[in-house]
Amino acid sequence: MAAKVRPLIAGNWKMNGLKSSALREVKKLAGRMHKAGRTGCDVLLCPPVPLLAPLRVVVKGSRIALGGQDCHAAANGAHTGDISAEMLADAGCGYVIVGHSERRADHGESSRDVRAKAKAVHRAGLRAIICVGETGAERKRGQTLGVIGKQLTDSLPKGCTAENTVVAYEPVWAIGTGLTPTVDDVAQVHAFIRARLQRRFREHAQGMRLLYGGSVKASNAVELMAVANVNGALVGGASLTAGDFWPIVKTCI
Ligand code: PGA
Repeated sequence: MAAKVRPLIAGNWKMNGLKSSALREVKKLAGRMHKAGRTGCDVLLCPPVPLLAPLRVVVKGSRIALGGQDCHAAANGAHTGDISAEMLADAGCGYVIVGHSERRADHGESSRDVRAKAKAVHRAGLRAIICVGETGAERKRGQTLGVIGKQLTDSLPKGCTAENTVVAYEPVWAIGTGLTPTVDDVAQVHAFIRARLQRRFREHAQGMRLLYGGSVKASNAVELMAVANVNGALVGGASLTAGDFWPIVKTCI
């Protein structure tokens, strides 16, 4: 089953990057991908919104897709500072991350909010990368699968398919800390997520990509990507430079 799923290596730049360095790094990455020829995975970068237009020029003709890091649930309207999925589509995005733990924590987003946003992403014809994950305290209390099960139920809208939805498992305690779960822990959570998706979305669940995220770097990417039901990675810090990101992308070639 896993062999048929084309992996996705996604970079989440968060609130990092200015135009000159971003253009330089993405040109470098595109160059390395071009030199390598065919990649066995899809490659995505989710930069801050002001960088979408300049990066769109650089990725043209490359196999690097662009995505947003969040969106509003509405298509337009009086929502100062917000961006709709339709606007991200218009800016050349193919994907939108929703429900990242930093959005859930910093902006008080509930799974219900995340579900509305994921629906908006589908409405705009884009792919939603829906994030779930337990905190360190929840893991210590043995609540990992319970928390993730509830987040899946509440955050995924109706009509999820392999084409329009990616699920990212990101343990909150592993994000930006250098800590990662054991491969056995990742395997357990990913098998659980796959089973839950199968129960709800039936045959559509088979090809849905399940990403692992949280302190992925060149030195641990090979073993994490080899875990059953792991179909790629959501990479934060190590996606900011071509030097760090390329070795992770290369694990899928
Ligand atoms: P990290 O972030 O790779 O810097 O841990 C991952 C994420 O938050 O998506």
